[in-house]
Formats: sequence, structure tokens, C-alpha cells
Amino acid sequence: MKKAYNIAVIPGDGTGPEVIAEGIKVLNTVAASGGLQFNFKTFKIGGENYLKTGETLSDGTIEALSSYDAIYLGAIGHPDVKPGILEKDILLRLRFHFDQYINLRPVKLYEGVDTPLKDKGPEDIDFVVIRENTEGLYAGAGGILKKGTPDEVAVQESINTRKGVERCIRYAFEYCRARNKKKKLTLCGKTNVLTYAFDLWERTFNEVAKEYEDIKTDYAHVDAVCMWMVKNPEWFDVIVTDNMFGDIITDLAAMIQGGMGVSAGGNINPDGISMFEPIGGSAPKYTGKNMINPIAAISAGQILLQTLGENEAAYQVEKGIIKVLREDIKDLAAGKMGYTTQEVGDLVASYILNGS
Ligand code: IPM
Ligand code: MN
Repeated sequence: MKKAYNIAVIPGDGTGPEVIAEGIKVLNTVAASGGLQFNFKTFKIGGENYLKTGETLSDGTIEALSSYDAIYLGAIGHPDVKPGILEKDILLRLRFHFDQYINLRPVKLYEGVDTPLKDKGPEDIDFVVIRENTEGLYAGAGGILKKGTPDEVAVQESINTRKGVERCIRYAFEYCRARNKKKKLTLCGKTNVLTYAFDLWERTFNEVAKEYEDIKTDYAHVDAVCMWMVKNPEWFDVIVTDNMFGDIITDLAAMIQGGMGVSAGGNINPDGISMFEPIGGSAPKYTGKNMINPIAAISAGQILLQTLGENEAAYQVEKGIIKVLREDIKDLAAGKMGYTTQEVGDLVASYILNGS
């Protein structure tokens, strides 16, 4: 019998539906050739839906999502919705509700893709950032006093729990071991200034490290990580960090791997329901034009497969991505690819089918 997975799909806004359609095409193709089956069910969630219905994410929808094996997300964001609403009520709510405590961001420069870093190539840019995804400055702790007065005070606290920090660090060590490349885990923090939060991180890191003697450990302050990422990205293998620093350094990382068109991530609960997304956003001006590059969405599908433990299928998808980037697409920018969104999906699917 075929192994079947039920996947909740949130195509979302802007170009989200277009790129997710290509991701689904590729997932169905790899499933057919690998004895798997995906049952996709679409959920209307996002800015468009919010403007129409006044609802961001209902309890009923959350409940319905709870019965799926994973969530595949296109993009959430709408130019007519005030910043903060969709982010908090949809994206962060899903991450928190499903306790997706890992934000996994592979950073790999593929052959044929331009990097803004002079003299760096695919052999230099191949690392993974593991970002804590449910705590830190994102926890929402704090408040405003005397709002609107000259004495106004705004406090936003970074919440770091031993449990939250430890499970993230443990995941990072395990991931680094399984990845089996340089076997080096770098803690990215700010122990020289954030002497409470990163004291906890550093102590936990050092304690857990004793259980992983095969993994080399390293530490760098977040500002130095930014510097090294540009100067010597080849030093990194796996980086583990808190929520806010992870948010910032993964945008920098996305740029050195060729931009938002190729970068994807997973919001992972290793024992629960994880959510996978291209990180590029909804690109409203390209909506419906069949111009945007679907590689990031297809890569998100690859991370989905890997997280479900379907490593062979994930490998086949990556091979397809590698081939299309090396041989077909010369420029990743929308409209400059030389192919439509659908044609890129077709190419990746055909490479999977041909086993090339
Ligand atoms: C990301 C995004 C989100 C974040 C926003 C949209 C809430 O920037 O996934 O990195 O800050 O985590
Ligand atoms: Mn971000």
C-alpha cells in the first residue's frame, strides 16, 4: 500500500497560489515515482480572505488544521492590510499553536545562481540556520505605559526558558550530526551584552555539547556572524540562535544564496504538525502573471519531504532543482527567467520523472 500524507495547503496571497501550485505539481510527481501519495486540502487563509471576511484565523480552522500531517504555505501578506495583523494573527499564531519551535533555514548556493559575494561559489555557501521559533522577543511579553504622553514607556522582553532553549539546541546538535558535513555547530548570541538570556543559551549549549563529542562547537556574537557570513561563509555548517537574531541573519543568508527566489524554510515541531514556506513573500505586483520563480516553494516542498522522513523523495526534488538552476534558468528575477512559473515547475517535474 502507498504511504499517504494529508497536507493542508495555505496558498495565501499574491503570487503564493502560483508558486504553491508548482510545488504541489512537483510533490505529486515525486510521490507517483516513489510510492507515496499526497492528499492536499486547500485552506483559504490570508490577507485577501481577511479583507473579504474580517477573519484572520478562526479556532475552527486551527482545529481543522490539527488533523493534517503538515502545512504547506505560499505567502501571507496584502498591501491593504496594516502590518502586524496577519503576521501576528496568522503566521505567529500557527507557529505558537502548533509549537513549531524550530525555524529551519537551509542556505545553499546552487550552481548557476549568482551570489553578491565576490569570489565565493557553491563550495563556500552551504550551511543551515536553526532559529528558535516560539520564544525570545517574539513571545509578546511586555507592554506600553502612559501611551501617547511624553512619559510613554514601551517594554518588550525576550523570554528564554531552559526548556525552550534546550530543545532547540538539542535539535541543532541532532541535525548537525545527521547532516554529516563539517559537523560543526555555531552558537550565535550576544553574551557580551545580553548577559542573562545568552548566559542561559551558552550554559545549555555547553552542557548539551558534552553528549555530542563528534560535533565541533563554536560561538560567535550575532554581529560577528553577520560579518563572517559575508566574509567567510564557508566557516559555517550549522548555526543555532534565538528567534530575533535568527530572523535577521536568515535574511542576510537568503541574499548570499541568491535571494528570496530560492530561499525556503520550515517551521518545525518534530513531534507535531510542521509548516513549510518559501520565505519570499506575496510579491503582489507579479500576481497572476505566471512570471515569478517557484523554486523557493519547490524547495519548501523538499524540506517538507525531508521532515516527514521521506529522504529519497527529498533528494529527487533537490536533484531536479539543481538541474533546472544549472541548465535552464539564467536569471531568477521575475520575468527574466526565460520561462514561466508553470514551465519551471514542469521542468523540475520532468527531471524527476526522467530520473536525471
Ligand atoms: C520570517 C518573517 C516573519 C518573522 C514575519 C513575517 C512575522 O520575517 O518568517 O522570517 O519575523 O518571523
Ligand atoms: Mn524574517
